[in-house]
Amino acid sequence: MIVLNVNGTKREADADPGTPLLWILRDNLGITSVKYTCGIAECGICTVLIDGKARRSCMVNAEEVQGSEITTVEGLPDNHPIKLAWIEKQVPQCGYCQPGIMLQAVDFLSRKPNPSEEQISDEMDNVICRCGTHPRIKQAIRLAAEMSAKQGG
Ligand code: FES
Ligand code: FES
Repeated sequence: MIVLNVNGTKREADADPGTPLLWILRDNLGITSVKYTCGIAECGICTVLIDGKARRSCMVNAEEVQGSEITTVEGLPDNHPIKLAWIEKQVPQCGYCQPGIMLQAVDFLSRKPNPSEEQISDEMDNVICRCGTHPRIKQAIRLAAEMSAKQGG
């Protein structure tokens, strides 16, 4: 039995402790916003926050993160600047990659609250959107940074 703290709630999963977190979230807990694509830490689409840091859940064993705070896109408040900016800029196309990319952006802005265009590109070019939404992703991150600054951080 694995016990995880997901989006502020304790959740139990009947699974082998060595199972990748991605599969516990999707198959045991039904959180299907966490998407599988490459399975080898290359695409970033399975990203979740673990204690506020972006991690690729396909490469994290569930037992490693018992006791940590795990956040999926559902755990971001509706008025989170990343959610508001994503809506304002109408970022998604098919939407498949977006939950992981939004969580990568949350971690990024926590480390770099006022990033340059180059820093945004360096960070976000490491997560793959097959629909080619990166220009809007970058605009939304700039907008989210401005919103956060107005909200006082
Ligand atoms: S599915 Fe985890 S990085 Fe691609
Ligand atoms: S919006 Fe379709 S893969 Fe990114």
